[in-house]
Amino acid sequence: MAPSSALSVLYPGSFDPFHNGHLDVVTQAAELFGNVVVAVMHNPDKPSGLIALADRVQLARRCTEHLSGVRVEAFPGLAVQAATTSGVDFIVKGLRTPGDFEVEQQMAHTNRSVTGIRTVYLPCRADQAFISSRFIREIAQYGGRIDHLVPAPVAAALAGIFGKPSGGSEGTS
Ligand code: PNS
Repeated sequence: MAPSSALSVLYPGSFDPFHNGHLDVVTQAAELFGNVVVAVMHNPDKPSGLIALADRVQLARRCTEHLSGVRVEAFPGLAVQAATTSGVDFIVKGLRTPGDFEVEQQMAHTNRSVTGIRTVYLPCRADQAFISSRFIREIAQYGGRIDHLVPAPVAAALAGIFGKPSGGSEGTS
């Protein structure tokens, strides 16, 4: 679907790792808005996480390269600063659950109070609403299957970190 507007949006996240739910939100945003900046957020004073920042950026780029109007960049500091630097019209967030809404609503109000930028919510695909980076990290760490939860480049990167998954749970003890 061609984007129906020339508006630009910022989709901020840690993307550690980028998963199928993220890809769904970027895809929806690219259908709705002319330009989507996927902002890989990081705190330079507290480097942490599973996947190095540069690799998170590269992986998100590879996973979204088929989408037009999408670019991926790393930003330090606040999401509102990234939004101002990028000159976007809105921040975009995906909502999986009512719990997400509560957290995101507080963040949206806070962000709007700081620079005036508003947040647009996109509902995640129902069949992907359970996917979370935290659980993917945990499953991958213990050798469980995550290839149905993440795009292929991310599955390969996690296999590089933890080794290949040991397969599904059926038949194992
Ligand atoms: O993928 P995540 O971890 O759910 O993303 C959370 C993220 C990065 C979007 C959020 O923590 C964020 O916006 N961080 C940047 C720092 C910031 O702007 N803090 C103020 C939030 S009101």
